[in-house]
Amino acid sequence: MCGIVGYAGKNEVVDFLLSGLYSLEYRGYDSAGIALVCDQGALEVVKRAGSVSHLDEAIKTLGLNACTGIGHTRWATHGEPSELNAHPHVNSDNTLALVHNGIIENHYVLREELEAKGYVFKTETDTEVIAFLLDQEYKKLGSTDMPQALINTCKQLKGAYAIAVCHVDYPHEIFAARNGSPLVCAQSNQGAYLASDMIALAKYVDELIVLDNGQFAHLKSDGSVRVFDSQINSLEHQTMQVDANNVPAASGEYPDFMLKEIYEQPEIARRIVDGHFKDGHIRLDGLNISDADIKDTDRIFIVACGSSYHASLIAKSYIESVARIPVEVAVASEFNYQDVLVSEHTLCIVVTQSGETADTLSAARKIKGLGAKVFAITNVIGSTAAREADGVLYTNAGPEVSVAATKTYFAQVLAMYLLALFLADKKEKLEPQDIVNAVSSLRKLPQAIEDILKDISSYEKCAEVCEGARSALFIGRGVNYPTASEGALKLKEISYLHAESYPAGEMKHGPIALLEPGFPVIVVIPQDQTRNKTLSNIEEIMARGAQVCALATEGDEQVKESANYTMFVPAIDTDLTPLVSIVPLQIFARKVAFDRGQNVDRPRNLAKSVTVE
Ligand code: M6R
Repeated sequence: MCGIVGYAGKNEVVDFLLSGLYSLEYRGYDSAGIALVCDQGALEVVKRAGSVSHLDEAIKTLGLNACTGIGHTRWATHGEPSELNAHPHVNSDNTLALVHNGIIENHYVLREELEAKGYVFKTETDTEVIAFLLDQEYKKLGSTDMPQALINTCKQLKGAYAIAVCHVDYPHEIFAARNGSPLVCAQSNQGAYLASDMIALAKYVDELIVLDNGQFAHLKSDGSVRVFDSQINSLEHQTMQVDANNVPAASGEYPDFMLKEIYEQPEIARRIVDGHFKDGHIRLDGLNISDADIKDTDRIFIVACGSSYHASLIAKSYIESVARIPVEVAVASEFNYQDVLVSEHTLCIVVTQSGETADTLSAARKIKGLGAKVFAITNVIGSTAAREADGVLYTNAGPEVSVAATKTYFAQVLAMYLLALFLADKKEKLEPQDIVNAVSSLRKLPQAIEDILKDISSYEKCAEVCEGARSALFIGRGVNYPTASEGALKLKEISYLHAESYPAGEMKHGPIALLEPGFPVIVVIPQDQTRNKTLSNIEEIMARGAQVCALATEGDEQVKESANYTMFVPAIDTDLTPLVSIVPLQIFARKVAFDRGQNVDRPRNLAKSVTVE
């Protein structure tokens, strides 16, 4: 959360800072700001509440010129979203400016210590503490040694941070530090760059320097970047090529990115299946896991958050039913405080589209610390999860811009279905012909989704069920209970309508008390072994005057007659029903949000990449 950028070089910096901040807005968009070391040696700071476009408008009127600067787009942790709390933060002399992504956990103690020394805080942020500490450490060293002052500052910080600093004493340089929050730099003959994410730099450079935890960087306008450790030793650069395919394009013919990303799903299905099925076998080469390790595996742990957690619950059903390996799925933020039992026979998988979710990364590090191997399923090449894992399965969905996960969730479920087949093959739990049959069912998936997307008006019409509602329930059974949970998450995060999910059979154990005339219940009811029981749920809901919107298999007229609204999906292999059922639920959530006047791509209070715990 929060995006940071910086540049020291030959060119005017403002355009780069703004373009970098626009591309990092998925990390937070409640306020934005820049600091420039101007040609006259003065520090200019411009900040605005709201999105980067507000900052952009403000800057246009100022006519600032500088070749060194830093910028920030914020997702508030400490202190309300406001111009005052926006970054960069400065010292009282206005000689130093600093941007930060992360959380300083000991900021209260540090604030008290600094206040006792006469520092006067103007903001409610944890970041201002870093600016003042750095000011103090720099002055202690006779105002001559910024690298050492930054090291001394970081030694006093507890928590996660990526920091970038500029100072009027160093008009052509930027300093940076990383611990826990991502940071990349780049060298070029035009100057030196830094950013939270490759996306901000893709237009400018081909190769990145990836900072590791505990590392510092010194960027100079001659284009050089020196990476050093806390002993000031220069370190070898760890580099990564910029992946142009991972840079988001515009939403084009679509009114928003969410719809564009929903429509990309058939193509993603083709790409994933074609990319991993060769000579009658599922190939997951990047996983880097030996046949012996798989044969030895007697338990699998999957750890994830949000939509990735829902996808993982579906994966549990897949892996247990075809590979016959017991699977435990944990929410990463809970897992981190559990007494987990991991042995050398446990396979651990972290699922994270961004590869940067702080809770999930902590879980991965905890598992590693327990001596087990960790495999990552992620969408972002070179992300922290990918770099730190023992092996990676990329979901190859392309960059997802809309905050609500749609295509990446779909790609995770599909990738983990392939993982289940792969494990089953290696464990000899399926015959070769079973794999071929499963893949030929999978090949029908893109067409099934294209059929759904041909005309979405019938799904959009179902949004009426939520008109005037204050809450909605989503129910489903078996492999489609997580589908119901994902549908509820989509609805609440973009429409702000309260929604929750239950296994359909649990209705009579409590949630049925919520029902009253008009209350919307979205029922996922594919043609599978649970269909008749779920149909009884529909009858029970209707008997109480609530409204049912059923998500059923095409041709199931009985369900249609029983419900107020029906979203039909094409018939498909039972295992694959979560992959077709989720699509109408995405469309449904988007329409409810749209009807309520919400920005579907940028829901309030959220960020695409949740880099704080
Ligand atoms: O990048 P990750 O998959 O680790 O993200 C996990 C969640 O933050 C994410 O799925 C979130 O719940 C989305 N907003 C859901 O649409």
